[in-house]
Amino acid sequence: MNVTSIKGFRDVLPQEKARQRALLEAARRVLESYGYDEIELPLLEKGELFRRSVGSTSDIVEKEMYSFEDRDGAVIALRPEGTASAVRAYIESGLTRALPVARLWYSGPMFRRERPQKGRYRQFSQVGAEFFGRDDPAADAETLCLVADICAAVGVRGTRIDVNSLGDAACRPAYRDALAAYGRAHASRLCDDCRTRLERNPLRLLDCKNEGCKAAMAAAPLMIDHLCDPCRSHHNEVLRLVAAAGVSVCANPRMVRGLDYYCRTAFEVMAEGLGAQDAVGGGGRYDGLVAALGGPEMAAIGFAFGIERLDLASMPLQDEPENPVARALVLIAPIGEIAAGPALALARRLRQTGVRVEMESPGRRLKAQMKHADKIGARFVVILGDTEIAAGKATVRDMQAQRDHASLFDLVDDAAAIMTALESIGPNEQR
Ligand code: HAM
Repeated sequence: MNVTSIKGFRDVLPQEKARQRALLEAARRVLESYGYDEIELPLLEKGELFRRSVGSTSDIVEKEMYSFEDRDGAVIALRPEGTASAVRAYIESGLTRALPVARLWYSGPMFRRERPQKGRYRQFSQVGAEFFGRDDPAADAETLCLVADICAAVGVRGTRIDVNSLGDAACRPAYRDALAAYGRAHASRLCDDCRTRLERNPLRLLDCKNEGCKAAMAAAPLMIDHLCDPCRSHHNEVLRLVAAAGVSVCANPRMVRGLDYYCRTAFEVMAEGLGAQDAVGGGGRYDGLVAALGGPEMAAIGFAFGIERLDLASMPLQDEPENPVARALVLIAPIGEIAAGPALALARRLRQTGVRVEMESPGRRLKAQMKHADKIGARFVVILGDTEIAAGKATVRDMQAQRDHASLFDLVDDAAAIMTALESIGPNEQR
């Protein structure tokens, strides 16, 4: 019997990986243009970290977290998300003092033991961003602009950003009670899960996908009608600033989030073409979390996108590396053993300048090598046969123009000459 992968854990094969990398690169550029610095966080954390942040009554912690005992008895968990780790790192590193306003981004795999389906896996990747130290509405608005700009850069189709306010410690408890009371009055129409949620986490009643629950909750009280004055004016100002910045968002008073740390602004990014799992990203404000994890009182807001879902929802990116020359694939075709040494030396020099080079086996005939060049989509083929080696030159064939573009170069200057030839063709023509 073959050994197969674990359910919900998938291989990202080369084509998909290349698309993911291009997505991440596009996102990175936007994040850096907003002043975010990259941080790398561990995949394993103490289980307690997620219980105290994401919430012990959340589905993510209660049902989906890969949590187990380490050999020394400590309970550790594969991270289901990045915010808790980012906050822990921000406190533990002392950056809360050294950098009281900080913008950090990260990417990498996350783990949730959910039921696998299209766009939902047990191991998936996120790119996330956390903005610490600002509690003013302009910080929320800037975050929403960043979210919209990442969607645009990545080419997400049919983006809709749903925004809501989840209130704060002053106004949410009373709303929670009102919602639970409503739920209790309609308990007979709720699914078993929701009946449990009723007492433990009533906000999640608004999020159940079950049609019966949706109908039962249709007339439920909404947080937006129970906001205290400071939360209400914060929310209105966020919406005003976002509109002023030219970003359109959709106020959705029924939107709640699956993680417990949020307060005030919360949002989800929906996209076309994803089926049931239509959120490509989500986030919000989590002002109490830094203090709850042992740090100072500090406001924060952030978000994360699912990379697999961004890929499913976006148009294929025109891969645009910073150095366009670097993308032109060159195949070096040495014909015969004599050419192998110079061919290797040439390949190295080209690679050092950032050109992607593939080298054929010197034992193969030119015809077979040219066929391979077509197959891999090489832009140039550098032919090194006996004649070329004897003359100290190389033939550079332009595969797009179907001609020997650059005549023969002296082998001494070959790398530089090929680079010049690539550059003279211009970035648009290169693949
Ligand atoms: P989240 O909404 O749980 O938020 O996840 C963010 C995104 O990760 C989702 O919108 C989705 O695209 C992707 N995602 C989640 N679960 C899966 C899955 N099982 N398979 C594939 N993709 C998935 C958070 O994780 C928060 N930490 C975001 C945040 C950052 N809030 C503040 N700062």
